Amino acid sequence: MKKRKTILKKFNPTIVTIIVFILLSIFIIKGNEVLSSNRKEEVNSETEYSAYPGVDIITDIYEEDTQNVAIHYPSFNDNSLNAEISDYIYNSKNEFLNNVDNNQEYLKKYPATLNISFDIHPFYKDMYSIVFSSESYVTGANGMQKSRVFLLDVKKNQFINQREILNDNEKNRDKLYNLLLKEFEKSEKYNQFLFNDYLKDWVFDKDNSFENMFLTEEFLSFKFDKYMVTAGVAGTPEINIPLNKVDDLISNDWKEIIKINSQEKTTPPNIPEEIDEIESENKDNENKIPSKQVAITFDDGPHPVNTLSILRLLDEYNAKATFFMLGSKVDFYPDVTREVSKNDHELGNHTWNHKKMTSLGKEEIELEIQKTNEAIIAATGGKGSTVFRPPYGAINDEVRDIVKMQCVLWTIDTMDWKSHNPDEVLGIVKENITDGSVLLMHDIHNSTVEAVELILKFLKDEGYEFVTVSELNSN
Ligand code: NI
Repeated sequence: MKKRKTILKKFNPTIVTIIVFILLSIFIIKGNEVLSSNRKEEVNSETEYSAYPGVDIITDIYEEDTQNVAIHYPSFNDNSLNAEISDYIYNSKNEFLNNVDNNQEYLKKYPATLNISFDIHPFYKDMYSIVFSSESYVTGANGMQKSRVFLLDVKKNQFINQREILNDNEKNRDKLYNLLLKEFEKSEKYNQFLFNDYLKDWVFDKDNSFENMFLTEEFLSFKFDKYMVTAGVAGTPEINIPLNKVDDLISNDWKEIIKINSQEKTTPPNIPEEIDEIESENKDNENKIPSKQVAITFDDGPHPVNTLSILRLLDEYNAKATFFMLGSKVDFYPDVTREVSKNDHELGNHTWNHKKMTSLGKEEIELEIQKTNEAIIAATGGKGSTVFRPPYGAINDEVRDIVKMQCVLWTIDTMDWKSHNPDEVLGIVKENITDGSVLLMHDIHNSTVEAVELILKFLKDEGYEFVTVSELNSN
């Protein structure tokens, strides 16, 4: 300590001040860089609380005059794995955007939609099947449905080729054909739509490398594209053959893996230990009763870092909020979901993967709502969602009837997803706030955390009380 002081003394104080000033400037610039490189931050910091060790889920959602887009994709620690997934997403998106460009006029009336989402199946230690589904509707007529399968080992940072798994020869193809046929015939959903000749041609095609094949803990599965072996109404069928029936079809190396697997099932995704308790110090309710209320709402989460930061801020201001969650993200981050519910915020249902409800059939709508609710209940240990918010705010009477929950929209769109600018977000709130406002925000963006802090401070000073949407509506 003493030594340091003497060193400092030797310097001219103005020089010291200048150096400190320069260092501070560098620090601030660096800080801003980190904030502005949202994407990188999200990818890097998301690994810790995932229910699927080594994998995170990234969500990209935007809404323009001519298009509504929601893209969900997995993110890994390894860049070569990420690069291949990015290529797939980039190409799918480009194809869609080209179609949008060619139909601009029409789309101003009926926006195009793109939804890319994935199912993830852990099938062995550190190994996952990722099954993408991409659906797009551009000119209203027939939508496009496509799928793509990736098998990977996140420990070795490698993709797994289906050919390694399959013991491919004439006899086995015959067996495979019969197994697939049997499963198709058993399936009430698909049996009347199968084109047997197509299936036969597909299985015996010499160039077939079975890229649509994947493993789960119980099945050897195949994801077929639309029209590939069935009529269009069947969509993209997924056929599952129980592992105990496919022994002959599996190469020797993989037989071992699958055998071990079926004996002692892979442990369910690790649920990490309790996230540090968020200190909730109930600030004394000041004696004066606030006369004005506001409901802050967050869509498209939960997010493993940003949601938790927002929870801390809300606690600081003794604020309650409503979180409209996507089931696919609740599935990845059950601990974060539980943390939200433990803090007495309201849990809302925002569908499983952000499809536009008004363009879906009854069954699909029910499935989106139900799956999401089940994930929330599983994560929180009982507390389900109490309110619903339709993606893109797209709602009609048919959707309302099916949902059977209160449907909540918003009165102030903060545009946080677009500007990524906390000051601009605050500006929008300042300009539009009134008693009973419902603010729309998104807890998946880093910049939103900062915006929430600014908004809480501003609205508290203005005398607002922060309540959930159900509390707001009950008054
Ligand atoms: Ni949304």
